[in-house]
Amino acid sequence: MKKVAVLTSGGDAPGMNACIRAVVRTGLFHGLEMVGVRRGYDGLMEGDFLPMDSHSVSNIIQRGGTILKTARSDRFRTKQGLDEAKKQLEDNDIEGLILIGGDGTFKGGLEFSKHTDIPCMGAPGTIDNDLFGTDYTIGFDTALNTVIYAVDKIRDTAASHNRLFFVEVMGRDAGFIALNSGVGCGAEDILIPESKTDIAEIIKRLEDGWKRHKSSCIIIVAEGDKEGGAFEIAEKVKQKFDHYDTRVTVIGHMQRGGSPTCFDRLLASRLGAATIEGLLNGRRNEMAGLVHNQITYTPFAQTRKHNVDINEGLLRIAHILSA
Ligand code: F6P
Repeated sequence: MKKVAVLTSGGDAPGMNACIRAVVRTGLFHGLEMVGVRRGYDGLMEGDFLPMDSHSVSNIIQRGGTILKTARSDRFRTKQGLDEAKKQLEDNDIEGLILIGGDGTFKGGLEFSKHTDIPCMGAPGTIDNDLFGTDYTIGFDTALNTVIYAVDKIRDTAASHNRLFFVEVMGRDAGFIALNSGVGCGAEDILIPESKTDIAEIIKRLEDGWKRHKSSCIIIVAEGDKEGGAFEIAEKVKQKFDHYDTRVTVIGHMQRGGSPTCFDRLLASRLGAATIEGLLNGRRNEMAGLVHNQITYTPFAQTRKHNVDINEGLLRIAHILSA
């Protein structure tokens, strides 16, 4: 193998740049010619390639976003899209492809692997932490720190005004950001799609707190909660329990940006290097992950987000600790 390409796809995540850097520099270390693909699978189908040397990834380990840019591409999943991508790689003598992204990225990688013999390897880059085959995804830790930084500030206002705040965090199908940040910021309740949200139960908890003279409350809501987003749930609660002055904050895309934490830089560096070394050791169509602090490889077909269980114990702890 002489020439390998790397792309980022799906939602950007802090640490993607650190991962690109690791992929490129590990590839160069092993004598490979490295190529970047701009705009994810869209750029792959259009042959939007750029040569990457060591200098091209200088000074990016600390930067959020992705220097290669990213996209969510429906066209890539069509036969025509897969054909175009294959042709572009073949025409440019590219013999291996590194994918940095989340669930949709590896779904695309799996389809591509059924369509071509060109081997792919993946690194998990998503703030959602919802991939099977790794304890942590690149960007999750930074997103958690962004959330608790915001909620700590909101709590100042909640406490000063005796208010109830519903804070919506990202995760349209997964509650990992909500659950972990909720414990980290001492939230009174955490609402996630994986566990049934019962409005009556939220109200009971609020009433108990009110009786114990709790002056303010923070409820973290994952955007994908089945009862609705933070605005909808706040309204439902307010109709039956209006002791607190209620406000809603949606943290939104702030969670996707910013300089990656040291944890994410380290994770991205280890996993980026592992994709190239896995590829050179003959691995094909697998995602590099970190499980119990060891590098592991999981076939794309198994990385699907619906294979990941939520840590119910954390939810229990959150309720005990916020009493
Ligand atoms: O997958 C990452 C993520 O940030 C989710 O948490 C969120 O639901 C989604 O992407 C938002 O996507 P977009 O930036 O396309 O609106």
